[in-house]
Amino acid sequence: MKPLAKHSFIILLYLTLSSTMTMAQHKTISQKVDSLLNLMTLEEKVGQMNQYNGFWDVTGPVPEEGNAAIKYEHLKKGWVGSMLNVTGVENVRKLQKLVVEESRLGIPLIFGFDVIHGYKTVAPIPLAEAASWDMEAIENSARIAADEASAVGINWTFAPMVDISRDPRWGRVMEGAGEDTYLGAQIAQARVKGFQGDNLSAENTIVACAKHFAAYGFAEAGKDYNTADIGTSTLYNAVLPPFQAAVDANVRTVMNGFNVLNGVPVTGSAFLQRDILKEKWGFDGFVISDWASIGELVPHGFAKDLKQAAELGANAGSDMDMESSAYVLHLVNNVKEGKVSEEKIDDAVRRILTVKYELGLFDDPYKYCNEKREKERLYHEDHQAGVLDMAKKSIVLLKNEGNLLPIKKNQSKIAVIGELANDNNSPLGSWRLGSDNHTAISVLDGLKKYSNNITYAKGPKVFNPDASFLNHVQVNETDTSGMEEAIAVAKQSDVVVLVLGEHGFQSGEGRSRAQLGLPGLQLNLLKEVYKVNKNVVLILMNGRPLTIEWEAENIPAILETWQLGSQTGNAIAQVVFGEYNPSGKLPMTFPRSVGQIPIYYNHNSTGRPNAQPNVFWSHYSDEKNDPLFPFGHGLSYTTFAYSNLTIDSNNPEYVSVEVTVTNTGDRTGEEVVQLYIHDKVASVVRPVKELKGFKKISLAPKSSQKVQFTLTNKELGFFNNAYEFVVEPGEFGIMVGTSSQTGLHGNFIKN
Ligand code: BGC
Repeated sequence: MKPLAKHSFIILLYLTLSSTMTMAQHKTISQKVDSLLNLMTLEEKVGQMNQYNGFWDVTGPVPEEGNAAIKYEHLKKGWVGSMLNVTGVENVRKLQKLVVEESRLGIPLIFGFDVIHGYKTVAPIPLAEAASWDMEAIENSARIAADEASAVGINWTFAPMVDISRDPRWGRVMEGAGEDTYLGAQIAQARVKGFQGDNLSAENTIVACAKHFAAYGFAEAGKDYNTADIGTSTLYNAVLPPFQAAVDANVRTVMNGFNVLNGVPVTGSAFLQRDILKEKWGFDGFVISDWASIGELVPHGFAKDLKQAAELGANAGSDMDMESSAYVLHLVNNVKEGKVSEEKIDDAVRRILTVKYELGLFDDPYKYCNEKREKERLYHEDHQAGVLDMAKKSIVLLKNEGNLLPIKKNQSKIAVIGELANDNNSPLGSWRLGSDNHTAISVLDGLKKYSNNITYAKGPKVFNPDASFLNHVQVNETDTSGMEEAIAVAKQSDVVVLVLGEHGFQSGEGRSRAQLGLPGLQLNLLKEVYKVNKNVVLILMNGRPLTIEWEAENIPAILETWQLGSQTGNAIAQVVFGEYNPSGKLPMTFPRSVGQIPIYYNHNSTGRPNAQPNVFWSHYSDEKNDPLFPFGHGLSYTTFAYSNLTIDSNNPEYVSVEVTVTNTGDRTGEEVVQLYIHDKVASVVRPVKELKGFKKISLAPKSSQKVQFTLTNKELGFFNNAYEFVVEPGEFGIMVGTSSQTGLHGNFIKN
């Protein structure tokens, strides 16, 4: 068999693959794909639709039995189109060689990995990056991740996650862009561009994947993998636009998800994957299932067994099966029995092969296996600079009473308190599977570069030190040792920097929380310290909005620093000591209490929005309606004033909105100027506010700038319940300001 296999491979190369041959030169990718498809057996086609997880130490001996041996045999037969979680040039090269040289047609594998916020060099978690509202920085961060990942053989990332979520109990909010669709759509595009670049076949760009299609972020009660049950208006206007934006930016793959949406598991939804994604939007890349989500059609009660799951998944338009073996085991028979048409198989395989061609894998299957790049690109100093820039931009100044921040270098006696302050692992966040543990710069190390006057006290133990991606973090609730020392250190200091929050592994997949306060004894520690020293700067590290009402009321200065990745300590130190003026704005509402969730700024009005002397209006008896910190909130070390809002709606094509922003403080600062609209009467009730524009500007002290926005039909329209985009005449409200809560108001009539 072997010589024949080689022989066919060479013929195939001649016919379809080589870009240097005259005959093939003029062939477009689609012609090449068609010729290759013609040569493939049904088994080989289905093989392309199969993705396996990495399974044995590929540099070790060949597996002889068990699951690994089966996968190995399937690879040799050409029954595997892709591998995930195989990294490193040596490993990737070995598997690629096996498939290219041993399988009949030698179709190269595509190697996927969760490169979510960096590979070795770790960027801030995506939610933190979203707080920058800085598309250039976000694109650059994805660029860095692609540069490193492509140097270890990876050519496909399962990112960006573009799921909108209004529920901070859901652990995966750390992986997305927050609650807003407009901001989320822009970030989706920036990330896709960053990963894919302008030329997918370059050796330092990788295929992106918009996930999880769709509505995974609406898991009921914030519990991961749970059902989503949302109305069509929310689906069309809140959930789908970031996916469509990613498709418009030419994202080459889309991942479906684990959730049921309105009774149908999204992995088995032809409505989503065929009707909307592929037909309405014209997406011509391929859809990958989520991990075993085709197999999970069985426990969902949607398919009776794995064979039917394969049938339903393929018919619904899930092109590649991630690790459920449903396709490789059953799809051929499903086709033979007439349950799945061969046209559908061809369509899926055509999409997969197209992306492989675009990556240049047919020209050189080993193009991502460059040992020199592997040595040079990982942890590159330019990447460190890039993620430091991103980290600074991601920090949000929530509160700064009496201008406690910034702290003057070496002029104050500083206490630094909290286990997280001295942690160089947790700040790497949750999805940092490619990186090395303990490679972040801790806050303490960062601060020490600016001051010799620091005393550190750990305070009570918070987390188990060996916390990992696979298990829940253990939290100490009882052992108070360390408290006394922390109080003593706080007493003797001019200012106390407390670093508190969640462990990096407390958010992310499978990490929903029902309580959103500071874990363990951290709030007790904060209260004890505050009793002896009121000059407290609270540095929060967390992967989601927390309920911090006591903290927000009492503590004078609060910085939201999320999990900032490799350069955490340097970024925070630059902000704490005033070398960098913070400009981040919250991409997600901070609730006062868990009972308010879901709480988000762009909600609809009820029929009873206003307070009444009796109980019959929309409110709680035991909680306020407003959030603790609204979407879009974030302060600076300077202050900004807004004036002269003008709206010009005379042109039928667009509305022009202008505002003057003045830096009224005494240092240069950046402001994210936000524009919100309210379509006051419409055939489908519109939210009380919707972000439809933002601009990040830098202003010197006492200087002003006019900021102009143009609203076209694209911003003023919406999707009706028949999924048609409509623009309706009538009155619109406008707000331009510094957050979703504060700004100048105006109105205009759209004819
Ligand atoms: C997650 C995906 C991820 C995949 C592969 C799944 O559990 O939901 O987002 O890409 O695993 O690791």
